[in-house]
Amino acid sequence: MTRRILVTSALPNANGDIHLGHLLEHIQTDIWVRFQRLRGHQVTYVCADDTHGTATMLKAEQERTTPEALIEKVRQAHARDFEGFLVGHDNYYSTHSNENRECAELIYSRLKDAGLIFTRTVEQLYDPERKMFLADRFVKGTCPNCGKDDQYGDNCEACGATYDATELGEPRSLISGATPVLNESEHYFFDLGQYTDFLKDWLASGHVQPEVANKLQEWLGDGLRPWDISRDAPYFGFVIPGTTDKYFYVWMDAPIGYMASFKHYAASRNDVAFEDYWDAGSDAELHHFIGKDIVNFHALFWPAVLDASGFRTPTRIHTHGFVTVDGKKMSKSRGTFVNAATYLAHLEPEYLRYYYAAKLNGTVDDIDINLEDFVARVNSDLVGKVVNIASRCAGFITKHFDGRLAGALHDPALFERFTAAAEGIAERYEKGDTARAVREITALADQANQYIAEHAPWAMIKEDGRRDDVQAVCSQGINLFRVLMVYLKPILPRLAADSEAFLQIDPLRWQDLDAPLLDHGIAPFKALFARMEKDAVDRMIEASREEAAPKADAAPKSDATAKAAPAEPQGSAEITIDDFAKVELRVARVMKAEPVEGADKLLRLTLDVGELGERNVFAGIKEAYDAGSLDGRLVVVVANLAPRKMRFGVSEGMVLAAGPGGSSVFVLSPDSGAEPGMVVR
Ligand code: 2FM
Ligand code: ZN
Repeated sequence: MTRRILVTSALPNANGDIHLGHLLEHIQTDIWVRFQRLRGHQVTYVCADDTHGTATMLKAEQERTTPEALIEKVRQAHARDFEGFLVGHDNYYSTHSNENRECAELIYSRLKDAGLIFTRTVEQLYDPERKMFLADRFVKGTCPNCGKDDQYGDNCEACGATYDATELGEPRSLISGATPVLNESEHYFFDLGQYTDFLKDWLASGHVQPEVANKLQEWLGDGLRPWDISRDAPYFGFVIPGTTDKYFYVWMDAPIGYMASFKHYAASRNDVAFEDYWDAGSDAELHHFIGKDIVNFHALFWPAVLDASGFRTPTRIHTHGFVTVDGKKMSKSRGTFVNAATYLAHLEPEYLRYYYAAKLNGTVDDIDINLEDFVARVNSDLVGKVVNIASRCAGFITKHFDGRLAGALHDPALFERFTAAAEGIAERYEKGDTARAVREITALADQANQYIAEHAPWAMIKEDGRRDDVQAVCSQGINLFRVLMVYLKPILPRLAADSEAFLQIDPLRWQDLDAPLLDHGIAPFKALFARMEKDAVDRMIEASREEAAPKADAAPKSDATAKAAPAEPQGSAEITIDDFAKVELRVARVMKAEPVEGADKLLRLTLDVGELGERNVFAGIKEAYDAGSLDGRLVVVVANLAPRKMRFGVSEGMVLAAGPGGSSVFVLSPDSGAEPGMVVR
């Protein structure tokens, strides 16, 4: 029976780059999608950027652009990144779309008609300068529990306490620096509590992994509180119908973005219809792949909202854990917070696809990329085991048999053992236990290599009268390789396509597994897969570290977790005059500004700092300034910054510049007349 399946990955935020954390999820989803298609099912895979909220509004302001222009630029970059990793979304859309507005308004009106929406006045911190209410992450102050300063408005990183932003001591707005005041505002609520029993049943019915169900059932114990679905202007989003200054909270319209992306896609196709997939009672399947941090939105709010508005609920929510690198949180300063584009500049996408597949086991456990193991595993499994089978056999077929495979299998029982593994492997894929699927596939590859080693065609070819045996053994080897490529195709679509070209066959399908290639011509063997080099990994880590290194102007950013850490809003922590006095700023003259080999963003500046002598400073300003154009220019340098060892040498200071980065960087220059070495105060 052909299943009709709609699959989604969580919508990446439109205010950051795609990184290893997003890639885990989209690669996991893409593998599942490709597996289902290989099995002959009808699958649609949609995604979008999650565009709404205060962060987008502030970022656009910071970049002196409109939110619309910003999100479109980011959407294109995200789509390109995913494509680079062979992630095949059928539609990569935006939550800021007409379809999403229509769906959100329709759902809201149905919730309202069902008596599930009410309003209530809430008190919230308000920035009197920017005239806006402040979400928790835009407020910092002193923890009410342990007294630690500089803590966000919802929880304390020092003692772990959670609290209300109004409880912070000496609060300040991260947007303007002003002291927030308490203001009242009317908010719109979805009465989630009415859905407590529904959700208890739903969670007990196999729609989520057991560990997720257990966790959420704990929440449900005392019943659910109403869910605040509105935010006040100014906000980037959709206005709530019937109001002028209330917007849907970003988490209200984000999951609706799944529907909207599908709707947009379906409008251009005649093989899928919106209603068939979304109406209550639909027999199509709906699968969401998400990270464990957003499980409450997907397994509580979302099914309740869908059911309450007359739509179908998800078939299954597939939840994964976070990514760590070498056992630690991804870190900008360690260079392990790797963006998609940086990865692709150094490594092949299929290395990561394979490694993630080899680690994902269908649970919410975190996934560690151990960099040594990453290289070793890819090389030993893919180059040393799988591709090795083809490369050991193909040469003989080409050279001695005019590229023709034998007319019969040499060891039919072995071939049958390979194909008999199909259902077991399919079951692993279905459950998301690709780690086990990979183990079973590589165990088969070991058997194939053993078979070739036992028959040693390289020795046989030298013996008289063994020509036919050589052809038979090598043809058997190629056929075993073909079976393995069917199994690996969801994980390694490019290798599979190259193998299809080498084997001169139509795209491999699961249903063709049992039919070996006999008396069939193959193309001369070309290397199908390049070894992974540890040096390239090191270069990628170094490049990530450099990207994250403070720009010529910026203060160091803190480490971030595998999920994109919220961008630090504009404005910054207060410092005292004594703190400022610790920074020694000096006028310097650029004597030479040269490109740095191997670094796209850096210029090496040789600075004359007067009495302090000459300094060598690496500045991330190459996209904004040509090497020679700064010669002779006066700049301001942080002269007492501890020297930093970089891959290209030691940087002995920092040049001040303004702007968001990239080509928008402006080096600060004193008026002419200033002298190198002068203290800036
Ligand atoms: O956590 C996040 O990155 C959200 N942007 C995910 C949204 S998923 C869906 F609900 F839209
Ligand atoms: Zn605390």
